[in-house]
Order: sequence, then structure tokens, then C-alpha cells
Amino acid sequence: MDRLNQLSSLFSSSSSNLHEYKIQISTFLIGILFAYIFLHRWNQRNIKGPKSWPIIGAIIELQMNLHRMHDWLTDYFVESKTFRVQLPNITITFISEPANVEHVLKTNFNNYPKGEAFHELMEGFLGDGIFNSDGEMWRRQRKIASLEFASRNLRNFSTTVFRDYALILSGILHQASICGKEIDMQAKEMIGYKPEDLESFTAKVTQFASLLNYDSLAKLSYLHATITETLRLFSAVPQDPKGVLEDDVLPDGTKVRAGGVVAYVPYAMGRMVYNWGPDATSFNPDRWFNKDGLFQSESPFKFTAFQAGPRTCLGKDSAYLQMKMTLAILCRFFNFHLIPNHPVNYKMMTTLTMEHGLKLTMTTRQS
Ligand code: HEM
Repeated sequence: MDRLNQLSSLFSSSSSNLHEYKIQISTFLIGILFAYIFLHRWNQRNIKGPKSWPIIGAIIELQMNLHRMHDWLTDYFVESKTFRVQLPNITITFISEPANVEHVLKTNFNNYPKGEAFHELMEGFLGDGIFNSDGEMWRRQRKIASLEFASRNLRNFSTTVFRDYALILSGILHQASICGKEIDMQAKEMIGYKPEDLESFTAKVTQFASLLNYDSLAKLSYLHATITETLRLFSAVPQDPKGVLEDDVLPDGTKVRAGGVVAYVPYAMGRMVYNWGPDATSFNPDRWFNKDGLFQSESPFKFTAFQAGPRTCLGKDSAYLQMKMTLAILCRFFNFHLIPNHPVNYKMMTTLTMEHGLKLTMTTRQS
């Protein structure tokens, strides 16, 4: 019996030793883990941009700010012209300084393609078209498209088409103004209207529109500045990522690694005091005029709404023509009123889109 007691106490003491041993190992491992996390964070104490965690990087902070991502990036750009966002599978270097943007979009253009990830993501939607290809495939399409966009015939034809569509839109808005109906300017909204109600209005608008052509629209420099100022603050493509083929060093000394992503951020660039002066966040079309009162364009590496370098938007002139044609007619014949308390904020997409549309009422201008 004694022997049995001895054995059982030996057994229970060795099992409690094992238990203690396990606790010690666990405490040790947890200690190492905390020390690792602490060191990881400590090493980042001087880093600009969001701090990252081991393995998951900055994904939590990014997720929490996804609905306001352009403004989240803008806040970091105020602290630093270049910063990195570490994600589990990729490092994105965000840039806002014109010298860096010029390097990526022009000087070392071949090192910063759209990249395989973007190509795969957009393939279903864009195929292998000019927007979604790199290398020789892009070069060939760009050459052909450049010739087409430069054609005078296309320009004259599109002027007529833009005028016709602006007239149709003004007819719809006139009807809405009569009914006091709200219109969502972002949606392709149509309301039924009877052309006979509109005859004298239509005659006036048509007569005015007949004065608008490529040359007369080119003289509307304040309208041109107003559109440009709108795109400075609300770029249609608010951030534009590029792949990195080989390790490189940006002009400000930032190292970028092959396989990573570099993104310039027109939305944030337009709001930086170091790019636009102390009134950077104010809407001020006057900033586009020089002291002689002439429209003064800016470096495309600073005003990046249309990208810059070899992949500059091919439709820039056409886009201005359409916007000026439409706005010249609408602003001449209507006053627009935002629906009170209508929330105007963006939703996260490749292009800047309003989450709740843009709800307006309108009245006709009688003068
Ligand atoms: C306000 C209107 C517009 C803005 C802000 C704009 C902006 C841009 C931007 C930022 C890019 C580069 C996107 C990228 O990284 O791939 C681009 C490319 C392009 N845009 Fe536009 N765009 C506008 C209107 C138009 C229109 C109306 C057309 C055609 C009629 C057009 C034709 C193109 C083409 C063909 C490219 C591809 C260029 C290339 O990759 O070589 N754009 N545009």
C-alpha cells in the first residue's frame, strides 16, 4: 500500500511539474510575441503613414477608413509627401509631389505599367483595350487612337453631337423646372415632356446653341478655369495605382521594390498647400489666370486629373468640349438649387462617384 501511495504521489507531482512547465513555456512564448510586436511598432515610431501590425500590416486602419479613403490618404499627405501603406500581400507607396509623379509617369515610364494585378481585375470589363494593356499591345492601340483623336472631322462631328445632346438635356430640365421636380443629375433620369409646351423656350435655347462651336467655346476661358478647378479638387480618377517592375529610387530618395505598387493621388494632390498654396482646399477658378488675365495651365505632373506623360488621357480636349458645350447652355438658361440637406459624398470606386447622387431642383433664368 505504501508503495502504491509513493507511486501515485510521484505521478501526481510529475504531472503538476508538466503543467507548470507548460505554463512557463506559454508565458515565455507570449512574452516573445509581445516583445516582437513592441519592437515592430517601436521601429515604426518615425515612419510616416499608417503604422502596421505584423502579418496584417495596416489593413485594419484601411478597412476602417475605406468609405473615406481619399480623405484618409489626404490626411497622411499633409504630414508627408510620400508614405507607404503595408498590406498583407503588397506594399503601396503613395506619392503627391510633382517630381515623383513625373518620374513615375514619364522619366521611368517603362518601370511603372498598369501591372498584372490591375489587368486581371479589369479584364472582364475592359478586355485588352487601351485602358487595360501595357507594352507593345498598348503602344499599337495608342498610336492608332492618337491619330483618330487628332482628326478635325471627328472634332467637328462631336461638336454637333454634344450640342444636340445638350439641347435634349435642357429640354428635360426645362420640363422639370415647370413641374418643380427634383432631378438626380448623376442618374440617367428621364421625365416625359411634351415638346409643344416648350416651343418658345426651345427656340431660344437652339438659337443660343447655334453660336457655340469649337472656336467660340475656346474663348470661354472662365468656364474653362471653372471646370479645371472642379477637376483639381474632384478628379474623376481620384487615385491611380501603377505596378513596379524593378527596384527603383524616387527623386525624393524613397526606395520602391519590384512587385510593389506606386500610386499618385490627384484628389489629395489638389488639396496640398505645398502644391497649390495656402488656399489649396478652396474652390477658386481665379487661380488659373495670370496677371494679364489669361488662362495659365499648370504642369500635368501637378494637375494630374488627366494623368500625364505617354499615357495622358487622349480624350481631354473632347471632354472639355463636351463639358463646356453643356455647361454654357445649362448655366445660361437655368439656376440650380441643391436639395436642402442632400448628402454629397463619394463612394469608393475607381472613378469619383457620388454615393447618393446629386439631387437638384432648377428654375429657368428669364434674362
Ligand atoms: C473629365 C473627363 C475625363 C477625365 C478626368 C479623364 C481622365 C483620364 C485619366 C486619369 C486617364 C488615365 C487612366 C489610367 O491610368 O489608365 C485617362 C486615360 C484615357 N482617357 Fe480620359 N478622361 C476624361 C474623359 C475622356 C474622354 C471623353 C475620352 C474619350 C473621348 C477619354 C479617353 C481616354 C483614353 C483613350 C485613355 C487611355 C490612354 C492610354 O492609356 O494611353 N477620356 N483619362
